[in-house]
Amino acid sequence: MRYKKTFIALVAAVILSTVGCDSPEVKSTLSAKSSIDTKVDSLLKIMTLEEKIGQMNQYNGFWNVTGPSPEEGTAKIKYKQLEQGLVGSMLNVRGVENVKAVQKIAVEKTRLGIPLIIGFDVIHGYKTLTPIPLAESASWDLEAIKKSAQNAAIEASAAGINWTFAPMVDISRDARWGRVMEGAGEDPYLASLIAKARVEGFQGEDLSAHHTIAACAKHFAGYGFAEAGRDYNTVDVSITTLHNTVFPPFMAATEAGVRTFMNSFNELNGIPATGNVFLQRQILKGDWGFDGFIVSDWDSVGEMVTHGYAKDDKHAAEIAVNAGSDMDMEAYIFINSLKSLVEEGKVKESDIDDAVRRILKVKFELGLFEDPYKYCDLAREKEVIGNKKLHEASLDIAKKSIVLLKNESQLLPLKKQGLDIAVIGDLADDKTSPLGSWRIAAEDSTAISVIEGLKAYPDNKITYVSGPELVTGTPSFTTEVQLNTTNRSGIEQAVDAAKNKDVVIMVLGEHGFQSGEARSRSNLKLPGLQQELLEAVYKVNKNIVLVLMNGRPLAINWANDHIPSIVEAWQLGTQSGNAIAQVLYGDYNPSGKLPMTFPKNVGQVPIYYNSKNTGRPPLEQPKSVFYSHYQDVSNEPLYEFGFGLSYTTFEYGDLKLSSDSFTSDGAINISFTISNTGKYEGKEVAQMYIRDLVGSITRPVKELKGFDIISLKPGETKEVSFIIDVNTVQFYSANEIWEAEPGDFKVFIGGSSSTVLEADFSLLKSNR
Ligand code: NOJ
Repeated sequence: MRYKKTFIALVAAVILSTVGCDSPEVKSTLSAKSSIDTKVDSLLKIMTLEEKIGQMNQYNGFWNVTGPSPEEGTAKIKYKQLEQGLVGSMLNVRGVENVKAVQKIAVEKTRLGIPLIIGFDVIHGYKTLTPIPLAESASWDLEAIKKSAQNAAIEASAAGINWTFAPMVDISRDARWGRVMEGAGEDPYLASLIAKARVEGFQGEDLSAHHTIAACAKHFAGYGFAEAGRDYNTVDVSITTLHNTVFPPFMAATEAGVRTFMNSFNELNGIPATGNVFLQRQILKGDWGFDGFIVSDWDSVGEMVTHGYAKDDKHAAEIAVNAGSDMDMEAYIFINSLKSLVEEGKVKESDIDDAVRRILKVKFELGLFEDPYKYCDLAREKEVIGNKKLHEASLDIAKKSIVLLKNESQLLPLKKQGLDIAVIGDLADDKTSPLGSWRIAAEDSTAISVIEGLKAYPDNKITYVSGPELVTGTPSFTTEVQLNTTNRSGIEQAVDAAKNKDVVIMVLGEHGFQSGEARSRSNLKLPGLQQELLEAVYKVNKNIVLVLMNGRPLAINWANDHIPSIVEAWQLGTQSGNAIAQVLYGDYNPSGKLPMTFPKNVGQVPIYYNSKNTGRPPLEQPKSVFYSHYQDVSNEPLYEFGFGLSYTTFEYGDLKLSSDSFTSDGAINISFTISNTGKYEGKEVAQMYIRDLVGSITRPVKELKGFDIISLKPGETKEVSFIIDVNTVQFYSANEIWEAEPGDFKVFIGGSSSTVLEADFSLLKSNR
C-alpha cells in the first residue's frame, strides 16, 4: 500500500511541473500524411538505443497487482524510467485520471514524447461483467460473443485502457486447470471461431476509434496442457497435436488481425515459451506472418532462469529477444540487460529495431500519437461505465450461456404462481462470487444474486436458508480460498426449510476464486460441505432444482443420478441472478451446449470428445479385460462435449448428401431436418462432426466441423445444411503440412457430440 502511495505522489508531482516535448524533428516525423510504416521508420531513426529498449519495457502500475508483488522500492525506479522515456507500456493502470497521469509523463516529460500503451486484463468485461469466457463459449453464439467483447472494449476504453490481454485461446482438456474458465474449452474448431469473434469484437473495424482496443491472443503456446492440470507446470506436446489442436485458435486470431500475442509461463517440450524460437520466430512471425508484437507474461523472461534454461537474467534477455519476444512484462530485465547485450553482439540491434517497430506500429494504429489522451475523456468515462445498455447486453449473453443438464419429470420451467419454494445454498445470495475470477475493476457485491433475481417473480413464496458457509474469510484474487469443511451449522435449518416445499432450488458450486490463474484443483467434486448438504436436503424433498455455479467442469455423478433438474449457470457476471431466474421460469428457454466435457470423476481427466480410437477401444460386449478402460468407471463422460437440453425437444432426420464423394476442388452439401417436437419455442445448436477413417497420422474419433443455431416454434421443422470441402477434412499430416488426404470419412449430425445421424463419404484423388 505504501508502495502505491509513493508512486501516486511522484506522478502528481510531475503533472504539476510538466515540461513537455516539442521537438520539430518529432513533429515532422509524425506528419499526418505519411503511412504508419514510414512514421515508424522515421521515429526509429531518431531514437537512441536506450529509448528503443525502453519501448520494450512494460511495468505494472500499482493500482492492481496480477502477479507476484513487485519488490519494495521499485516504484521510484519505475517512475524515474518513465520520466526518462524508458517505459513503453504499463499494465494495471486504470481510470481516466490515473491513465492520464502516467500518459502525461510519457508524452510531456520525455525527450520524444512517445505515448504509453495501457494494458489490462479485460477478460470478461471491465466493470460490467459478462459471463466468464468458458460460459460465454457455451452459448456457441458467435455474434453474441463478438458483441460482448465489443462492449467490454467500449467500457474499458472509457476508463483509459487501450489494450486487453484477451482473448485467452488456450485449448484445455483438463478441468483441474483453473484457467479453463478463461478459454473456450476443448475443441479447436469452436475455439477458433470464438477467438475470431472476440478479436473482432475488441478491435472493431477501426482500431483508432476511441471505443476499440488492441486484443492479445494468449498464451502462446501449450499453456492449457500443463501436466496434471497444475498451473505453470511442464508441457510436453507432440508437434502434430500442437498443429492440429493447440495452434488453430491462435492462427484464427492472427487471421482476424489480432495486434498482439502474449507468450507463456510454461516450457514446451523442454524450451520455455518465452525463449522459444520455433513458436515465436518460426511459426508466429514466420509462417503466419504476424506483424504485431509479442509481450511476455508476468516475469516469464526472468522465470527462464528458474526453469533452468537461462543462467541469469541477462542470459534470459538474450534468449527471449533472440527468440522473438518483443516486450518484457514486469521483469525489469530487458531494460537492464539489452544495451550491453547489443554492445557485446549477443543481440542484434536489427532485432531490437524489429521489436520496437512492431510496438510503435500498434501505438500508431491505436491513434495514440495523434491524441495520446483519446481514451481519457472524463465525461465519456462517467457516461459509459456501468450504463444500462451494457447491463442489458450482459443479461442477454448470460441467459445464452446457461446449459440445462437434466430436466427429468419437467420440474422446469417453474410455474410463476402458487409455488412454495425453498432456496438453499450460500451461493444463492452471493453478490460477489458470480462475478468469477479476472474481475479486477469490478467492485465486490455488484452481481445480481439468485435471490434478487427470483424476486422478479413475486407470486411464488420463497424461503431462503443459506446452509453452511462455502468459504471462511473473504477470498481474493491473490490469496488462497479457504473452504469451510468443518462448520456444519446451517444444514439442519436447510433441511427443515426444504420439508413440504413444492420445489427446492439449491445453488451450489465453486467460489468465484476457485478457478482462474493459479487455481488448480485435484478433485472436481462440489467443494466444502455442499455434497453433504445436497444429500441431506434430498432425504426430505426430492423435487430439487440444482443450479450450479462453477468455473470448470465438475464431476457431479451423485447429483446426476438423483436430482431431477440440473442447470449449469457457471459464473455469469453482473446480471447472474436475473439470467438464472429468467431461465428457471422459462422466460428464456435454455439453449447452451457444453464447450468442455464433464467427467464422471477426476481420474478420467484429461477427457475430451475428439480423442483417438486406440488399438483396443471398448466394444459393446467385451470378451476379455484387454481393452482400453478403467475397472471402476466407464470411459464415457458424465456430460459430453456439445451437450445441453432445452425445455422443448428436437428430433433430427432426413440426412441427405448431395454426393457421397468429392474431389479437392469440389464439395458435398449435407442437409438434414430438425423438428421441434415439444411444447416450447426453442433454439438448438445443430452440430456436424466428421471422422477420417484412415490417416497418415491417426485421426480423432470425431471432430466438430460445423454448427448452426436454429430457432424453432413447437411443431416446426427446418432444413439445415452444411458444406464439406477440403477445408473440412484437412489436417496437419505426417508430411508436416496441412493437407487433405483422399480416403473414406464419416459425417455425423446431432445436438451434441453423441450424434444421432451418420453417413459415409469419400474424398477422391484429383486427376490433375
Ligand atoms: C499473468 C497471466 O498469465 C496473464 O494472462 C495476464 O495477462 C498477466 N498476468 C497480466 O495480468
